[in-house]
Amino acid sequence: MYQCHDNIHEGFISEKYMPENNCALCHGNENWGSVTFDHNNTTFQLIGKHLRTECRSCHFEIREGKTYQQFSNLDTKCASCHDNVHGNQFEESGITDCKRCHGFERWDRSNFNHDNTRFKLEGAHLNVNCNECHKAEVVDGKSTIIYKIGKLTCADCHQ
Ligand code: HEC
Ligand code: HEC
Ligand code: HEC
Ligand code: HEC
Ligand code: HEC
Ligand code: HEC
Repeated sequence: MYQCHDNIHEGFISEKYMPENNCALCHGNENWGSVTFDHNNTTFQLIGKHLRTECRSCHFEIREGKTYQQFSNLDTKCASCHDNVHGNQFEESGITDCKRCHGFERWDRSNFNHDNTRFKLEGAHLNVNCNECHKAEVVDGKSTIIYKIGKLTCADCHQ
């Protein structure tokens, strides 16, 4: 197959994943869009929604009518592809690791446990809505829910 087709991925996919320009390692004969590849061979494991996402959503980008591809050195940081709605509240050394609180299916709080914050929720607080303590404020022009409220003693919130 590689004798008949130009390698459109030249310089984009490392030789390691495309030895001898063997297109058949990923492509079948049906169409170029159906691809099989074990992504676990890269440093970025596909989990949850990512497993059901088309390769091109991450590896191809259309800008001004032209298609650009990126495979090797594609940034693996969550925030390089996803909008960080929390500003820099959860930043550690300049990086926000979304996995600390989120899974890979949807942006709910599946990996989050309030007991691991600086304020354990107990007693009556367990029945208080999140937004009674965590209000939205405008940060850099965007409405942002403030989680790091810094109010840790009873008197900070109660008379
Ligand atoms: C390591 C896996 C891999 C190998 C090997 C590979 N490709 Fe691809 N190729 C892809 C992926 C991923 C896409 C994007 C598929 C999608 O989601 O539409 C793609 C898409 C394409 C497309 C469609 C481009 C477009 O703009 O829609 C062509 C044409 C193509 N490959 C040709 C080749 C040829 C020719 C070879 C062999 C020289 C080759 N590929 C080898 C992964 C591979
Ligand atoms: C959710 C985003 C995402 C999806 C979907 C995805 N990838 Fe990737 N892929 C990445 C990231 C991020 C890297 C960079 C990992 C690294 O540098 O080791 C990568 C790396 C690769 C590489 C290694 C490139 C190289 O030369 O180092 C190949 C090949 C690849 N992906 C093929 C595919 C194929 C084929 C599919 C579809 C079956 C796919 N990817 C779907 C995000 C994705
Ligand atoms: C290279 C780009 C890329 C990287 C890096 C990436 N994602 Fe994604 N992610 C995607 C794409 C594309 C989708 C599918 C979006 C869609 O279909 O709307 C997706 C979907 C998701 C979804 C499902 C909800 C939604 O928005 O559709 C979650 C949750 C998610 N990603 C979490 C993460 C986390 C956590 C990280 C970091 C560990 C991460 N992603 C890194 C590209 C990426
Ligand atoms: C310290 C925990 C924490 C971290 C880290 C975190 N989030 Fe969240 N995020 C939350 C909580 C809590 C919610 C509210 C969701 C809920 O209550 O179900 C949320 C909600 C969201 C929502 C939905 C917002 C809406 O308006 O519906 C998105 C999107 C989101 N987060 C993206 C991200 C991304 C992207 C990252 C990484 C760059 C990230 N989050 C990191 C805790 C976190
Ligand atoms: C009674 C008040 C109260 C309620 C109710 C409450 N929280 Fe908190 N929360 C706090 C306080 C206090 C902190 C610690 C703030 C700090 O560290 O500055 C905190 C911290 C957090 C953080 C920051 C985590 C981190 O790693 O720094 C997140 C995310 C969070 N809460 C989410 C929630 C969610 C989701 C709910 C609803 C299920 C909720 N909180 C309900 C008071 C509350
Ligand atoms: C970050 C703000 C915050 C902090 C800190 C906080 N609370 Fe609360 N607390 C609330 C909110 C909001 C409610 C629900 C609304 C209300 O009853 O005022 C509540 C409700 C309560 C209730 C139930 C009151 C009722 O009338 O139902 C008690 C009891 C309580 N808190 C005790 C405490 C104690 C004791 C501390 C210190 C250990 C504390 N709270 C720290 C925000 C806070």
